[in-house]
Amino acid sequence: MTKESMPASYGNKREMQRRKLDRIGVDQYISEDFYQRELKTIWRKCWLWAGRASEIPNPGDYFVFNLPFLDRTSILVIRGKDNKVRAFYNVCQHRGGRLAYYERGSAGVLRCTFHGWTYNLDGRLAGVTFDETFCDFDRSQRGLKPISVDIWGGWVFVNLDPAPRWTLREYLSPLPNALGAYLEKEPWAWEWGRKGLFKCNWKLQVDSQAEGYHARFLHARSIIAKFTKEDTPTWTYPGSVGVPFKLEVHRPKAQDSGVFLTELAKAAGTYSTALYYNTDTDDYKGGVASRYPGAVNVFNGDRWTFDLYGIFPNTVILVQKGHLMIMRSWPRGVGQTLWDYDEYFTRPPVKFGEYLARLHGLLEMRNTVTEDMTTVEGVQDSFTSGALTEQIVGEAEIGVGAFERHLLHMVDELSD
Ligand code: FES
Ligand SMILES: [Fe+2]
Repeated sequence: MTKESMPASYGNKREMQRRKLDRIGVDQYISEDFYQRELKTIWRKCWLWAGRASEIPNPGDYFVFNLPFLDRTSILVIRGKDNKVRAFYNVCQHRGGRLAYYERGSAGVLRCTFHGWTYNLDGRLAGVTFDETFCDFDRSQRGLKPISVDIWGGWVFVNLDPAPRWTLREYLSPLPNALGAYLEKEPWAWEWGRKGLFKCNWKLQVDSQAEGYHARFLHARSIIAKFTKEDTPTWTYPGSVGVPFKLEVHRPKAQDSGVFLTELAKAAGTYSTALYYNTDTDDYKGGVASRYPGAVNVFNGDRWTFDLYGIFPNTVILVQKGHLMIMRSWPRGVGQTLWDYDEYFTRPPVKFGEYLARLHGLLEMRNTVTEDMTTVEGVQDSFTSGALTEQIVGEAEIGVGAFERHLLHMVDELSD
């Protein structure tokens, strides 16, 4: 990326100071009242990243998406005979039995395990066992309770609001259409994922991914030592509902001076299909860049490594050439959060070098995000202790400021 093509992505310091954009309170991370407001507003009225549509390719295929922090809600996402993906509460309308207990499966009809009532794949009540024992009731009113669902980029989103305020496309503007096509059309296959429970507010995990300022310190021994702020240009989208920020991460210029690279990392980078240190592979040049122009590396930086988008409220996606990582934070209370991440690739490694690069990349990523998560519990303790009542952010952290301000705005906006 040349200086000329580098967008003016950082905050203007004077403007930040004038509008107090450089300050973030801490109440929103520790207040039980505020957490309860979040549950009633953003979590019940925003689109949530639920899963991949291609994981339920055939009619009758389903996955279960549980939101235990939202009044123990369980959702069934299922593909109908008409190939349409629908979502329902995973709740039998007889006496509340669960229709599916397993994470995923396939069914011709949905049969409740409690008393055997059945439902068609489109949610209509199909059969009542021993129905002569029931008084008259309107079967058309006893179908499964639907949940708003839509698909973007091959990913299923659900919204607990029966009449969402924004369509999914409105919500995800300004994500590029080319990115949607790239995420939809490539044969993304899950390869690796982890989850863990942390004693922190869910937003600290999003914050941890919303800036690259920490990289040269927190990640000094893992991925990259010498980041400058130009290496992680950040955009914010004040007009967007569901995309508060975007970061690009670029390989530091001084790659050979001061960057901590092991011999193994260098060797892996030579073969990489998805690593930090190589954008010159055939996969990239012949793949993403030519087939989906504008999907990634929009400014065509020669040191570009990955794009990272915040998807409100709880998801951060990292997009590379042939590699996709989805990170999500799920509250379990104001000070406790389940964090999960999943990594997908467009194709399996073929040659030994690629295999080495794949494994190395996965481990490198594991180390990096583990480092990210080492900070969150300590920061939460700091907030609850009362020793810090206001955070201050610099130009390179405008993603954090944008996300947290957007959150306050959305909680207000969606309050009844
Ligand atoms: S609760 Fe489902 S059949 Fe009775
Ligand atoms: Fe990090």
